[in-house]
Amino acid sequence: MGSGIVQVAAQAGFQVLFVEADDELVKRGLMRLHETLEGLVKRGKIEARDRDAAVGRIAGTTRLEDLKSSDLVVEAMTENQALKNETFAKLDRICPPTTVLASNTSSCNVTAMAAATKRPGQVLGLHFFNPVPLMKLVEVVRALTTSDETYQTLFAFTQSLGKEPITAPDKPGFIVNRLLVPYLLDAIRCYERGLGTIEDIDKGMKLGCGYPMGPLTLLDFVGLDTTYYIANIMFDEYKDPMFAAPPLLKRMVLAGKLGRKSGEGFYKY
Ligand code: CAA
Repeated sequence: MGSGIVQVAAQAGFQVLFVEADDELVKRGLMRLHETLEGLVKRGKIEARDRDAAVGRIAGTTRLEDLKSSDLVVEAMTENQALKNETFAKLDRICPPTTVLASNTSSCNVTAMAAATKRPGQVLGLHFFNPVPLMKLVEVVRALTTSDETYQTLFAFTQSLGKEPITAPDKPGFIVNRLLVPYLLDAIRCYERGLGTIEDIDKGMKLGCGYPMGPLTLLDFVGLDTTYYIANIMFDEYKDPMFAAPPLLKRMVLAGKLGRKSGEGFYKY
C-alpha cells in the first residue's frame, strides 16, 4: 500500500520521500513505481511528461531522519501497535513541530500512536484501500486528541489526491473493516463448513451481489496475514466472536499461504 500512496501523492504534484528498511527495498520500490507509471503511459492513461514529472518527485531512503523537513508523514508499516507507537515517538523527535503524523493502519489504535508523541493534536489515521491508485476511498480517522485543524487540513489533502474521504472514529476497523472483516471471516467459516467450493462461494457473491471480487479472492488480494492481524486486533478489542479468526485462516498463515504475495492462498498464482 505504501507504494500506491507514494504513486498517487507524486501524481497529484507532491514531493515524496519514502523510507524502506534497506537499500534493496528502496531500489525495488523505485523500480516498481517506474514500471507502473511506464505501464500507464503505454496504455495511454497518462502522458510521458506526466510520468517524468511524477518520477522526478519521488525519492527513497533508508533513514527515518531524512523525513526531517516533511509537512506530512504517512506510516504504512505492518499492523503492529508497539512498532507503530515506537515509530511515532521517533518521528516526533525527528520532525519539526508543524509536521502532521498519519497512519495508514486499518485496525490499530490511533490514539495510542498520538499518545506516543508530544503533538497528539497533529496525529490521525489516513486509511487508504487496496489497490490505492484505483480505490477512491480514504477513511480520515480522528484520534480522541486530533485537532480540528489537523482533521480539516488532512481531509482536504485526501481530496487533493483525487480521493473521496469519509470521517471515521478511532475504533478498530473504523467503518469499512468493521463491516468487511466479519464478512471475509464468515466466508472462510462457510468454506470450512463445506457450504460450497472456493470457486462457487466467490462466484456466488460476485455474480449474485455484483461485488468486483468474491470474498476468498479478496482475502488473497488483501493478504491472509494482514487479515489475520486485523481480526486478532478487532477480536481483542471487541471480544465479539464475529471477529474471531477461523482455525483455517490461522493455519494458512502458519503454512505461509498468504495469498497473492506468497504465490498461494485460496488460489495459486
Ligand atoms: N495507477 C493508476 N491506474 C491503474 C493502476 C495504477 N497503479 N493499475 C491499473 N490501473 C488502471 C488500469 O489501467 C485500468 O484502466 P482501464 O479500465 O481504463 O483500462 C483500471 O485501472 C482497472 O484496472 P484492471 O483492469 O487491472 O482492474 P479491474 O477492472 O479488474 O479491477 C480492482 C481491479 C479495482 C482491484 C477490482 O477488482 C476491485 O475493485 N476489487 C475489490 C478491491 C477491494 O475491495 N479493495 C479493498 C480491499 S480492503 C482494504 O484495502 C482495506 C484493508 O484494510 C484490509
